[in-house]
Amino acid sequence: MARVVVVGSINMDLVTLAPRFPAPGETILGERFLTVHGGKGANQAVAAARLGAEVTLVGAVGDDAFGEQLRDGLARENVQLEHVARIANCSSGTASITVAEGDNHIVVVPGANAQVTPTQIEAAQRAFEKADAILVQMEIPLESVEATLRLGQRVGKPVILNPAPAQPLPIEWLKLARYLTPNQHELAILLGADAHEDFRSLMHRSPAPLVLTRGGDGAWFREEDEPVHQSGFKVDVIDTTGAGDTFNAALAVFLHEGLASAVRKACAAAALSVTRLGAQGGMPTRGELDAFLAAHPIRL
Ligand code: RIB
Ligand code: NA
Repeated sequence: MARVVVVGSINMDLVTLAPRFPAPGETILGERFLTVHGGKGANQAVAAARLGAEVTLVGAVGDDAFGEQLRDGLARENVQLEHVARIANCSSGTASITVAEGDNHIVVVPGANAQVTPTQIEAAQRAFEKADAILVQMEIPLESVEATLRLGQRVGKPVILNPAPAQPLPIEWLKLARYLTPNQHELAILLGADAHEDFRSLMHRSPAPLVLTRGGDGAWFREEDEPVHQSGFKVDVIDTTGAGDTFNAALAVFLHEGLASAVRKACAAAALSVTRLGAQGGMPTRGELDAFLAAHPIRL
């Protein structure tokens, strides 16, 4: 069983389904509203746990009702919570999400996620030491992202940095990552890449090995000195929220099988995740992923 530590955000997602995105200044009527559990850190933790990993989450919730519900949800998914802090006089993280036109718009208010400190990460050193892989994203303070990369380096464990939401980072930090997993938009901000630069050139100038996610078009990665493309799996898209989180979780869980196998499974898991509403809806169990892969054999 793979052991994974996830350092990251925990949010309540306030999801509105709309027939289309409103223009600035415009009001439209939506179709449905729901509150579902999210946050990139929590999503990655839940996805990895469903895939059979033993998962420890390092993060924080507020002392509000959302915080209780979010902790209960994580506990039900078998995520270890001893490194999830409860911050007094603070709201839990929220994400206001509009789902329309097969895509989403998201505004995140960090709340308690802004209180995840380097000290809290240092306190999780034992969990890091036991881990096969560590996952971190960027909805927590950047100094805590740095602390995660440095602790992983110190204990000799691979850290996968999912640079989302996109922000520029110092090159020295990026070099500490075992893999960088941006999408096209995040890559543009991270490396100043334009949409037309090909993967061969990107992989040569990236400070750490790159796994580039392309939504429905799968992902690119490097094998030996060659760029390799893993195609996406065709599915009916209901909600793409959390697809990137599912991809990163599967990558961490299956990394020990080698990069090509892990990327293929990550693309399959992400495809399953978009077939249901909500970031954590549709995230497959190990059995569901195996069945899906068996139905989509590699064509030689
Ligand atoms: O990656 C998807 C997540 O981003 C959502 O669950 C939302 O909480 C935002 O953090
Ligand atoms: Na989903």
